[in-house]
Order: sequence, then C-alpha cells, then structure tokens
Amino acid sequence: MKKEVMLVTGAGQISMAIARRIGFGKKIILGDKNIENANIIAKIMNEAGYDAVPFEMDLSSRESILAIIAETQKCGEIKYLVNGAGVSPSQAPIEAILKVDLYGTAVLLEEVGKVIAEGGCGVTISSQSGWRMPQLTAEEDRLLATTPTEELLSLDILQPENVRDTLHAYQLAKRCNEKRVMAECINWGKRGARLNDIAPGIIVTPLALDEFNGPRGDFYRNMFAKCPAGRPGTADEVANVAELLMGDKGAFITGSTFLIDGGATSSYFYGPLRPEG
Ligand SMILES: NC(=O)c1ccc[n+]([C@@H]2O[C@H](COP(=O)([O-])OP(=O)(O)OC[C@H]3O[C@@H](n4cnc5c(N)ncnc54)[C@H](O)[C@@H]3O)[C@@H](O)[C@H]2O)c1
Repeated sequence: MKKEVMLVTGAGQISMAIARRIGFGKKIILGDKNIENANIIAKIMNEAGYDAVPFEMDLSSRESILAIIAETQKCGEIKYLVNGAGVSPSQAPIEAILKVDLYGTAVLLEEVGKVIAEGGCGVTISSQSGWRMPQLTAEEDRLLATTPTEELLSLDILQPENVRDTLHAYQLAKRCNEKRVMAECINWGKRGARLNDIAPGIIVTPLALDEFNGPRGDFYRNMFAKCPAGRPGTADEVANVAELLMGDKGAFITGSTFLIDGGATSSYFYGPLRPEG
C-alpha cells in the first residue's frame, strides 16, 4: 500500500515530537538547512520504526522550498505539513529572522497550499512572542496577512528603522505567521485542506537552551518561574496540540493559532510577569 506523505521542515525537537506523534506509517521528508540535524533526527526516527528521509533545504529561499516540495511529491501527494524550522532572537540577526521566520514561512504555506492533498492539513509553529508585542493596527495586520510574499519584506513596519532589535523582529515574524495562517487557510480550504498554527511558550529544545544561555537568559528563566505552570514545556506537549489539530477531531479547526505557554502570556498581561510602568 502506498504511504501517505508528510513534509516536515526543521529537524528540531518540536518537529520531531509532532512527526513521531502523527507520522507513523507515513513517508516523512525531513528538511533542514543543517543537514547534520536532519540526518540525526531521521536516524533516531528510523531506528524507532519510522520512515524519514533527510533533505537539505533553506526555509528562507523559495527555490529551496520548491525543491523540497518537488522531492516530497516524488513519494506522492503531500497530505501533511509540519513547519518547525526557525531561528530565535539569540541565534540570528534581524535580517535573517525576518527572512527565515517571516518570509520563509509565508512562502512555504503558500507553495504547499497550491499542492496539498484533499483532506490534508498543516501546522506551523509561531511563538508566544507574537502575543506579547503591543497590538498592531488593523491595517498592519491586514498587510502582514495578505501582502504578496515577494513584497512582504518591503513593508514599512519591517524596515530597519522600525525594527528595534532581534526580539522585536522575532515578535513581528511570529505575529505575521498567525496572520498568514488566517489568510492562507482560505486557499487551503479550496482544496479541502486545513491549516493551523501553534504558538508555544518556552519549550526545552536546543533553540530555547540558546536563549537560556544568551543575553536574555535571566529574562527567560524568570518567565517560566513566574508563569502559572511554573516550568517550561516540552516538545511532546506541543505535539499533543498538533495531534488534535491534524487529526479527525480537529476537522472544524482551521486558520487558528493555539497558545501553549503554561500561562506565561496571561502572567505578562495580568500577573507577576507584567512589565513595570
Ligand atoms: N523552543 C522554544 O522555546 C520555542 C518557543 C516558541 C516558538 N518556537 C519555535 O518553534 C520552532 C522550532 O523550534 P525548536 O525549539 O524545535 O528548535 P530547534 O533548534 O530544535 O529546531 C529548529 C531547526 O530549524 C532549523 N533551521 C533554522 N533555520 C533554518 C532554515 N533557514 N531552513 C531550514 N531549517 C532551518 C535548525 O537547523 C534546527 O534544526 C521555531 O520556529 C521556533 O521559533 C520555539
């Protein structure tokens, strides 16, 4: 029997947790810019009975996105998309964060949306960071949601004079992810497919460990200490949400973002994490 096909970008902990949860019995193409990461995760999965094939790809390049889509389609129509590729504020400069997390995600959702199988579904990973930034105007939100992908990085709010630092770039990118999912789910829906977004809080992964050890380490440790859950989360807990969104029980859910942050955002607005002043 032919296997269902799943495209996964970002061979990190969150991607792997989701791929393991819903990917058994499926053909999984696992893309990452760092092929070593893809090789390692594919090996772990294959030694646990999965069928994962590593592939070198760069989320910030449309050409590379089209290449992994073409590679995946060699195995059949794409039924599932998991986008867990990304860079964090301590890992990359402003330009790279916008190119990978904002532009690359938008292109991936657009291109996979053109070929997704009927009954298919996708999930992309944004962040609680997108919820912390002050509200944008309705027009700014609309522009993030609907500007053609190749014009996105030319938007005024994304120009260097309007982006304070890498954290602000990351927040803008993750807010954009939520908005793109809302707009793009309409195109996915025309093909009988669904698209959603998960916005995690601090999840222990190499990316988060870079943050703990980076210039904002104290800020991050304080964040999980003072959130209602009192701890960081795990990639498996993110996979719990993905399992709902990507399965039959999520059939009425599309275009949504799910915050899973142990209550850190609530604490930031109305509790002990609230900034002074
Ligand atoms: N870990 C957290 O606390 C946390 C919180 C909120 C959001 N997120 C988001 O979750 C997603 C997954 O992160 P993770 O924590 O699993 O991190 P991770 O470091 O385990 O995995 C991220 C992977 O993305 C890859 N990658 C980076 N740039 C790429 C590019 N241009 N093209 C292709 N691959 C690329 C990296 O090589 C890495 O393998 C990211 O978008 C991140 O912003 C993570």
